[in-house]
Amino acid sequence: MSIFKKTIFTGFSPNLTGRDTARALSYLLLPWRWARISSGRYVVLAEKKLREYFSVRHAYTFDSGRSALYYGLKTLGAGEGDEILVEAYTCVVVVNAIKFTGAKPIFVDIGDNFNIDPANLENKITAKSKILIIQHTFGLPAKLQEILAIAKRHNLKIIEDCAHSLGSRYQGELTGTFGHIGMLSFGSDKIISCVRGGALITDNQEIGLKIKELKNQLPEPSLIKTIQHLLHYPIFYISKPIYNLFIGKIILILAKKLNIINKIIYKQEKAGELVKFYPASLANALANILCYQIDEIDRLNSHRQNISEIYTKEINNQEINLPWRNNPIDFKNCACLRYPILLKNPNQLLSYAKKQGAMLGDWYNVPIAPADINFKKTGYLNDCPKAEFLASRSINLPTDRHIKLSDAKRIVKIINSFSGSN
Ligand SMILES: Cc1ncc(COP(=O)(O)O)c(C=O)c1O
Repeated sequence: MSIFKKTIFTGFSPNLTGRDTARALSYLLLPWRWARISSGRYVVLAEKKLREYFSVRHAYTFDSGRSALYYGLKTLGAGEGDEILVEAYTCVVVVNAIKFTGAKPIFVDIGDNFNIDPANLENKITAKSKILIIQHTFGLPAKLQEILAIAKRHNLKIIEDCAHSLGSRYQGELTGTFGHIGMLSFGSDKIISCVRGGALITDNQEIGLKIKELKNQLPEPSLIKTIQHLLHYPIFYISKPIYNLFIGKIILILAKKLNIINKIIYKQEKAGELVKFYPASLANALANILCYQIDEIDRLNSHRQNISEIYTKEINNQEINLPWRNNPIDFKNCACLRYPILLKNPNQLLSYAKKQGAMLGDWYNVPIAPADINFKKTGYLNDCPKAEFLASRSINLPTDRHIKLSDAKRIVKIINSFSGSN
């Protein structure tokens, strides 16, 4: 890692700003705000902003996307004896949300676009199939026309997993508005963030009222957890610019080890178990920060699209495969959360880039990420060869608001100078 060059991050809270940090600090330091940490008017405001953004009648927030997904599944009746179809090349918390309802996850293989392969979907449907989760990986909308036609034929209910695709459009309409329910995530690495948060949206009156009823039964978030989430802001804000000097790295490692800041995925979740503090409602203080970010969705995505175009035009290393160039995509309709590239030896490129101060992303390097989970508990039957192949070759590049044109060019230069024999 070079100490002379600013580190480029892919993860590490890419949406974090000074404005959000100041707001988080105000909740931590100003006594008259303490009473408003857990509950207050911002949850209602965030939900209103989401309803307006999506032009839907219902939007309800939760402590996370995974909790939102769990309640979305419950709303659509998932339970013991049901099969829920979901793509391999996803995150373990998605699989946990299914399992916690009592239903069984059935993994569908993916296509070159990292989204559900319609042909494989047909093969995986049985009489027990009840709900289909459609993920729009990296922000690229799935083949909705084909997939929705299959779902209709088999009477499947749909949840769109828009954790990566907030603001993406398919045939002019926002992803999240095609299924019975759209699920959003505001986790620290997503399109917009409040460290941890999520939502469900729907325009269906009956479904909306059911979600509302379940959401109203949620406990308030634990104060300790919310304080951890608020502390995430100053700690990352201070550490990232000095990460290359090692001090930043040490602060982050210590903050994690000492439990001063949250973990994105807890140990229990990696083992397929529930975490004690969740599910819960979204904390008012986090909803306050979310409100600013909701107003920025389209602007942030437009930046992501511009950065993605640079990668598409300028990466010219023969060892690297660019799926978004080979099957050209319309960047204007894609949230471009991360820019996927494929190569034979992703770990070599990760460490080569790291040495030059660029920490590239490894979503998803296994079909159900992260790699250190208890795979047996997921119920995955090693029956999605394409997902396994793509996972074994995946790297993703950052596109977030902090990636300047010069950073994108630095990444291009690193990638173009890489050789598997380096
Ligand atoms: C595809 C996908 N769906 C859902 C989630 C869950 O979102 P959250 O982290 O807000 O619980 C994730 C989490 O990383 C994800 O990658």
